[in-house]
Amino acid sequence: MSDEIIRIFDTTLRDGEQSPGCSMNLNEKLALARQLAKLGVDVIEAGFPIASEGDLESVKAISREIRGPVICALARTSPADIEHALEALHPASRPRVHTFIATSDIHLEHKLRMSREQVLEEIDRAVRQARGHCDDVEFSAEDATRSDRDFLVQAFTTALEAGASTLNVPDTVGYTTPSEYYDLIRFLREHVPGSEAAVFSLHCHNDLGLAVANSLAAIRAGARQVECTVNGIGERAGNTAMEELVMALKTRRDEFAGLDTNVATTEIYPSSRLLSSITGVPVQPNKAIVGDNAFAHEAGIHQDGVLKSAITYEIMTPQSIGRASNELVLGKHSGRHAFRERLLELGYELEGDEFQDAFRRFKDLADKKKSIYNEDLEAILADAVSHDDDRFALGDLAIVSGTFALPTATVELRVDGEPRKTTANGDGPVDAVFKAIAELTETKSELVQFNVKAITGGMDALGEVTVTVEEDGRRVIGHGAHTDIIVASGKAYVHALNKLAWHLRRRSVDEPRGI
Ligand code: KIV
Ligand code: ZN
Repeated sequence: MSDEIIRIFDTTLRDGEQSPGCSMNLNEKLALARQLAKLGVDVIEAGFPIASEGDLESVKAISREIRGPVICALARTSPADIEHALEALHPASRPRVHTFIATSDIHLEHKLRMSREQVLEEIDRAVRQARGHCDDVEFSAEDATRSDRDFLVQAFTTALEAGASTLNVPDTVGYTTPSEYYDLIRFLREHVPGSEAAVFSLHCHNDLGLAVANSLAAIRAGARQVECTVNGIGERAGNTAMEELVMALKTRRDEFAGLDTNVATTEIYPSSRLLSSITGVPVQPNKAIVGDNAFAHEAGIHQDGVLKSAITYEIMTPQSIGRASNELVLGKHSGRHAFRERLLELGYELEGDEFQDAFRRFKDLADKKKSIYNEDLEAILADAVSHDDDRFALGDLAIVSGTFALPTATVELRVDGEPRKTTANGDGPVDAVFKAIAELTETKSELVQFNVKAITGGMDALGEVTVTVEEDGRRVIGHGAHTDIIVASGKAYVHALNKLAWHLRRRSVDEPRGI
């Protein structure tokens, strides 16, 4: 008998993008969506089209280009939300509308100010509206784990009768526990009439660090779709981490017999690296599966055991998640073939001019730095995602600084293609560069955070700078890498300002953030 498939519904581009600083622009979302398709996820939740023009545009672009996974768009139950979702999904070959409304009394009373009857009417109308144009409709009962169980049964029954085929049971505030969630899924499967024809889905937040444990409990109770994100990013403490869930099912097949996913696990590490290099948000070193230390054995007794036989301390291999040995460094004599192979491991599939450009940048770096590690490559490749709709392009910059000189920066920059140049003073060379860039771009944003780190060791190490800027409640992270940290700082600042400009240009007045 063949295994039953647990569907992987990836919401990195929607719930994940709601993490502070994880906003992505169109090209970045497309690059990630291509990688998710390669990873083999079953559904890509590409965005929330009514949230902003940017979301609408991105869902449209992903629907146009990505083939294989179902492409899903989120919508509240209002007619306008559903219309936006349908419009964005129009080019998709396998579209899904995902509509949601809260069902807990806490949300009904304090947020929606609606009665239970009104909520049921909303569900019925929204699902029917979506089903009128799309065969695949998912309904989510927001805050399900704090909702009255009998009302949840009514809500899901209404959705099912109106034509929904996936019933999602979100633990919106990360409040539930494995045994409670297990009971809830079992209860719903037993009490929603006709639910054997539907797929129950789980959606867990990690506020108590229980998202993966809760997800596994729901699978045991019969849920067959997991909503999750790469690196576990998402609102507040994040969502179920895709890599942890998938590898738990694979590594503990004895516990989860007869269940499998369609994920190509060797694409897990490339997906994690790509997301982290696009957003500039690092993965914590001790993060399960994809953290730097996940396969590092430090204690002598462990190293001794692993050298004798890996099975002593390793429950899965780094190769099984597509993690190649970092020992294999590239250098100035490495050719195109080795370079291309390494790019693929890092989640970058570059062709034509993009590949040639990245190779040239690699060679330039190899002239300055003897050994090129994955981290160095990721830093220079962050620019490889096409930036054709960027407003600002950093040109040359020159700095005067030292113990007796007033720090002064002269910066050249193109704004919408027009060359501009200015000179500014600052408290230090980075401050002077930032002041010059702020003047040229006329930004109103606030600089919230500035971090510098050396990527890998050695005097010739690349410096990587991450800059967080905020305007009008929208926070973005930019990053830049260079052997000169002042140049890296300028690149990071301009990168952040481009991202911000992209989002602000496409913002709608009615941006419903913070689901
Ligand atoms: O956490 C949540 O409830 C959500 C829903 C929109 C599914 O993200
Ligand atoms: Zn969520």
